[in-house]
Amino acid sequence: MRQNIIAGNWKMNLDFNQATELVKEILDKQKESDVLTIIAPPYTHLKSIKDMLGQTDIRLAAQNCHHQESGAYTGEISVKMLKSVGVDYVILGHSERREFFNEDSLAISYKVSKVLENGLIPIYCCGETLEERNEAQHFHIIEKQIKQGLFQLNELELNDCLIAYEPVWAIGTGETASPDQAQEMHAFIRKTIANEYNEIIANNISILYGGSVKPSNAVELFNCPDIDGGLIGGASLQVDQFIELTQSF
Ligand code: PGA
Repeated sequence: MRQNIIAGNWKMNLDFNQATELVKEILDKQKESDVLTIIAPPYTHLKSIKDMLGQTDIRLAAQNCHHQESGAYTGEISVKMLKSVGVDYVILGHSERREFFNEDSLAISYKVSKVLENGLIPIYCCGETLEERNEAQHFHIIEKQIKQGLFQLNELELNDCLIAYEPVWAIGTGETASPDQAQEMHAFIRKTIANEYNEIIANNISILYGGSVKPSNAVELFNCPDIDGGLIGGASLQVDQFIELTQSF
């Protein structure tokens, strides 16, 4: 069911002590709100952070996973392993995975299916580069990423997914998509889903915007009718900014 969400993507930041310190601060400073709050620390911190979160409403995400159940995949982490330490969500197909680790939408689609099979929730990321936007290819690119990454799913499965639209040119650059640009793409993603499935599914799915979201631009973005929240990188490492973002709806 569609809901307001703030998801913090910590990326490859914070050693164990810094990470647990940040969680402590978040727990101390968090305020009453209806917003679903998710944090995605590095793998090595997940179990301890899960223990710290205990019975609070803050949910835990991993930043990636492997699509196989288990086996000879040195250095990889399976969904079952994530599940066994209490992870609820898995970020998949982040543009940094696509760019630096050559993940394409097909490979990511296997991960999406595996995550769902294990009862966890994928946060499927899509986004165009600046070059693609300048060449007016952005709708085409996003449509392709959505189709290839998600349309292997049946209605019930898709209903369980979250989507994050993150234009690559806005990630970590300080440059944000304007509310109009973001709203336009979010509406397009819903239309793409409605065409393949139906309006109900399209309207039920939560679509987050990501790319230099901070308290100063969040309210305007989250006010857009098709933007349900944010996938937050840099600002999720600053406790005050992160808490303020959960209050920006
Ligand atoms: P940013 O990162 O907020 O630092 O731009 C967003 C993301 O990559 O998820």
